[in-house]
Amino acid sequence: MHVERLPASANELYEAAVGALERSYSPYSHYPVGAAVRTASGRVFAGCNVENASFPLGTCAEAGAIAAMVLAGERDIVEVVTVTGGSEPGTPCGGCRQRLREFAQPSAPVHATTIDGRLLTSTIADLLPHSFGPENLT
Ligand code: THU
Repeated sequence: MHVERLPASANELYEAAVGALERSYSPYSHYPVGAAVRTASGRVFAGCNVENASFPLGTCAEAGAIAAMVLAGERDIVEVVTVTGGSEPGTPCGGCRQRLREFAQPSAPVHATTIDGRLLTSTIADLLPHSFGPENLT
């Protein structure tokens, strides 16, 4: 599926995020999420939410995508797409905003989409203003 207003740079990310959403393990919330990140080298990494009968142990889609990225030796996120169920785009949760912030510049675009084509584009700085990051510890 093609989302009309996504920039061309995000189309591959969207396809990867939809593929991840389709593998979401979300039997408790019934809220599947897929996320994909593109790195400075052009590679794409995706993840889905993975829930657990012990509810707090569930992990977010963004965390899965970031783990795959780091395992591959990549660390610079330049663009993010999330795809959620529901009628409105679900932007990354507070914890995932911080997870993304660790590896993305404040200007990096974050496209929150739905499986039926809704889109809300923002940036890391929009989602997490005045943020704390690695620079604070140097
Ligand atoms: N979820 C994500 O995967 N990413 C977010 O940023 C928001 C929430 C998942 C966690 C849980 O499996 C489901 O969505 C409902 O909260």
